[in-house]
Amino acid sequence: MSSALVILAAGKGTRMNSDMPKVLHPIAQTPMLVHAMRAGRALAPERTVIVAGHGAESVTKAALSEDDTAQVVLQEEQLGTAHAVDQARAALDGFEGDVVVLYGDTPFIQPQTLERMIAARAENDLVILGFEAADPARYGRLVMNGDRLERIVEFKDASEAERAISFCNSGLLACDAGTLFDLIAAVGNDNASGEYYLTDVVELARARNLNVTAVACAEAETLGVNSRADLAQADAVFQAAARAALLEQGVTLMAPETVYLAADTVIGRDSVIEPNVVFGPGVTVESGAQIRAFSHLEGCHVSRGAVVGPYARLRPGAELAEDAKVGNFVEIKNAEIAEGAKVNHLSYVGDASIGAKSNIGAGTITCNYDGFMKHRTEIGEGVFIGSNTMLVAPVTVGDGAMTATGTVVTRNIEPDALAVARAKQDNKPGYAKKLFSILRKKKENLSKGQ
Ligand code: UD1
Ligand code: MG
Repeated sequence: MSSALVILAAGKGTRMNSDMPKVLHPIAQTPMLVHAMRAGRALAPERTVIVAGHGAESVTKAALSEDDTAQVVLQEEQLGTAHAVDQARAALDGFEGDVVVLYGDTPFIQPQTLERMIAARAENDLVILGFEAADPARYGRLVMNGDRLERIVEFKDASEAERAISFCNSGLLACDAGTLFDLIAAVGNDNASGEYYLTDVVELARARNLNVTAVACAEAETLGVNSRADLAQADAVFQAAARAALLEQGVTLMAPETVYLAADTVIGRDSVIEPNVVFGPGVTVESGAQIRAFSHLEGCHVSRGAVVGPYARLRPGAELAEDAKVGNFVEIKNAEIAEGAKVNHLSYVGDASIGAKSNIGAGTITCNYDGFMKHRTEIGEGVFIGSNTMLVAPVTVGDGAMTATGTVVTRNIEPDALAVARAKQDNKPGYAKKLFSILRKKKENLSKGQ
């Protein structure tokens, strides 16, 4: 059976107190909406429709950059969850199969839960996802009769007896597309909020003798984000789970609670991550690598046996081959560091390639930017770059070449050559002594005059 996702993401999220639409606030550096889209991908949906409203332009951009086949529809006015789903009607024209409704601000829903909802659809026309709430607060309540769901009552409209129910509505549902849109067409807004409630489809379905049930999931999966405090809490929950998963996979985290991961961080077995390391998006670390304390990595790849840090920064496009070493206060951007090459101290290597076994001395800088354009520095194999070398790109250093300390390289260096480009040293005998005594006198005269 084919399926389609409808992800509700039109709400403003007033309590976020933000110019950014709520669903774009990130958890583990990935927008909440993208987390929901990724969970939904487990169903291999034939179509994905995002219902946007507040900040629709930026929501569209984020949705399409995750999945360029997604369709974004606009809900101009937020008239309720049923009205929101109704906005996807045209986008799902001609689609036959199940519609699964997700919320863009409920990022922890598990793919297996969605699969269970789809499985329950085999015996039921409409499946609602519920959860036992520790504190049911203002959630809609699921009124069950055995395994049959009779209706959902919103907190505002509920009686005392109904408010005592702790089995709550997550908001997610699965239903055949044709049936769902028929039911939604019949939803009215005669309730305490004057909104078109998606939850009303339950009673409408029962009135048509359709089978309706609820599937339960853990409350943690339905954790919604409404405020910055919720966002921080959700991020902490994500981090704890991601760290635990890495430990389980055989990665050593010396101080797990100080390592900050992105949603897509991949770290191989037997790697060691020292304390206070931050992973931005798009990082892959192969097995047996070592990321030392206080390093910051994003958009990069670290191969087996490589050592990074302490205090290193790997920016997007940094590619470290096996056994490469990047040491303290080194920044690497858009550069390949080949097998066994070393950049151990205080250097900037950007838009460059460094050949196997080359050694880059302390304080080396690839001068890659002329104020308008970026240029490349190509360094061959087995090269020795002396400390404090400036490589003014574009420039090439051949295999086996060497630069003298303090050299400013402006021309290509042929293989095996030594480049020296610095002022010649001149030692003047006795000059220092003379200069010291002149200066000493000057200082004495000055303090006498005061
Ligand atoms: C909804 C459910 C409630 C459930 C709760 C779970 C209804 C009527 N109520 O209530 O039973 O317990 O979620 O969190 O469905 N949205 C739109 N357009 C709209 C209205 C909402 O896109 O016009 C989106 C919101 O951005 C949000 C989601 O739908 O992602 C839910 O809306 P929200 O206003 O939070 O519904 P609740 O009142 O929490
Ligand atoms: Mg809500």
